Amino acid sequence: MTSESRNSPTEVVEQTIRNRRSVKPADFTGATLPDEAVWKMLSAANWAPNHGRTEPWRFFVYSGEQKATLAAALEQMYRQITPVDEIKPSKIQKLHDNCSKSSHLIMIGMKRQESGKIPEFEEIAAVACAVQNLHLMAVVLGAAGYWSSGTPLCSDELRRYLGMADADRLLGMFYLGCPQDNLNSQGVRTPIEDKVVWKSTST
Ligand SMILES: Cc1cc2nc3c(=O)[nH]c(=O)nc-3n(C[C@H](O)[C@H](O)[C@H](O)COP(=O)(O)O)c2cc1C
Repeated sequence: MTSESRNSPTEVVEQTIRNRRSVKPADFTGATLPDEAVWKMLSAANWAPNHGRTEPWRFFVYSGEQKATLAAALEQMYRQITPVDEIKPSKIQKLHDNCSKSSHLIMIGMKRQESGKIPEFEEIAAVACAVQNLHLMAVVLGAAGYWSSGTPLCSDELRRYLGMADADRLLGMFYLGCPQDNLNSQGVRTPIEDKVVWKSTST
């Protein structure tokens, strides 16, 4: 590989990928991002690879007062699917706080191909690629967020609430916001060498 300057495309891609962090609403400022920026993220998501051109990603964006509407629905669903003695008021409060501190809430769905010919795991993988694209574009635009998949964000109740079909999957929610300054963005990963089996010819 030839020597490259600091801002070479390789550097930019590598740094963007490495600096992407999952940032939670508690670390958002509470400010609102321009809708145009969110469209840029969604457009980046739309360029994810997918098998058979199914483009299975579906996004449900909530902004402004609609965030509170979604939070109320999430609370209702949490109450519906949780045994009464396991309902935690602190969790409900956090849900509302997280939603109001976010700029936009993006529900992440997978639209199942009519024929079902493409295996489901490939469709879910394509949606994950789309979310990664969205997240990377968010970082480049100075935004932050994280993919949350906890109860009730992947529930059938919420999937139905969003008007998705039985064969579709709801994969969680992306909390999007403006990050506070001075966040520690150090990520942690074990070495890639521990996760690779590499065989080559010995000639
Ligand atoms: C499919 C998926 C679901 C996730 N769900 C949650 C979640 O429910 N709660 C959570 O705290 N983090 C969740 N995360 C974010 C991870 O916690 C985060 O990626 C991990 O801690 C690594 O941190 P980093 O993204 O900053 O590198 C999820 C990530 C992915 C890819």
